[in-house]
Parts: sequence; structure tokens; C-alpha cells
Amino acid sequence: MRKVLLIGSLLLAASAQAQNVTGNPAEGAKLVATCQGCHNEGGGYRSSFPEIYAVPMLNGQNAQYIVDALKAYKDGSRRMPTMRAVAASLTEQQMADIAAYYAVPKGESIK
Ligand code: HEC
Repeated sequence: MRKVLLIGSLLLAASAQAQNVTGNPAEGAKLVATCQGCHNEGGGYRSSFPEIYAVPMLNGQNAQYIVDALKAYKDGSRRMPTMRAVAASLTEQQMADIAAYYAVPKGESIK
């Protein structure tokens, strides 16, 4: 039990250290134009390229979740080809900015 706790807190410390980038939602807003084509707020959340995928909604999503997902695409542990290509071009700062932007719920108003 103690060991598990120790490992848990080590992991927490490590991820806190990796977290020295702070997302800026205003910068993120400039970066999401390409994302919106697929991750749009209205509609049925489907893309037809390269094949039919259900596209997850990002609005209101937890910022850390978005950063983790983008890193996973970039390092190849998530395999969807389009998102791998998208994430490969993003820096950690840009990922944090985008995540900060999406983490603020916007309803249907921003397209
Ligand atoms: C061509 C369409 C397309 C574009 C453009 C696109 N995405 Fe995606 N995105 C998808 C699809 C489809 C998935 C689901 C893939 C899967 O199943 O892994 C996805 C998944 C994600 C996820 C994981 C969501 C979750 O709930 O697990 C994140 C985060 C994400 N995209 C962010 C972005 C960002 C940020 C951009 C712009 C820089 C972007 N996407 C551009 C189609 C797209």
C-alpha cells in the first residue's frame, strides 16, 4: 500500500514538473481554425475524411485531457492518422494554448 502511494506521488511530481507550460486561451483561439472543420460545435460530430470517424467534441473538455490526448497522438500511442499528423505539428505550448481555449465552455456561439 505504501509503495503504491509512493509511486503515485512520484508520478504526480513528475507530471507537475512537465506542466511548466501555461495555456493561453487567446493564443489557442488563433490555432483552432483547422480543428474546427472537424471538431465543430454543431452537427453530428462526424468527419468523412479519410473515412467516417465519430469526431469527439472538444468544447468544455478538461484541458489536461486535451494535452494528454494530443501528446499521445504525437508520440504514436494514439493511432488515428489525421490526428497524428495534426498533433505532430504542435509544440507543447500550442497544445496547452489550444487546451486552455477548449476548456472554456462556449455553447453554440463560436463557430
Ligand atoms: C480531419 C478532421 C480533424 C481535424 C482537422 C482535427 N481533428 Fe482532432 N480528431 C478527429 C477525429 C476523427 C478524432 C477521433 C480519433 C480517434 O478515434 O482517436 C479526433 C480526436 C481528437 C482529440 C481526442 C479527443 C478525445 O475525446 O479523446 C483531440 C484532443 C483532438 N482531436 C484535438 C484536435 C485539435 C486541437 C485539432 C486542431 C489543431 C484537431 N483535433 C484537428 C478529427 C480531426
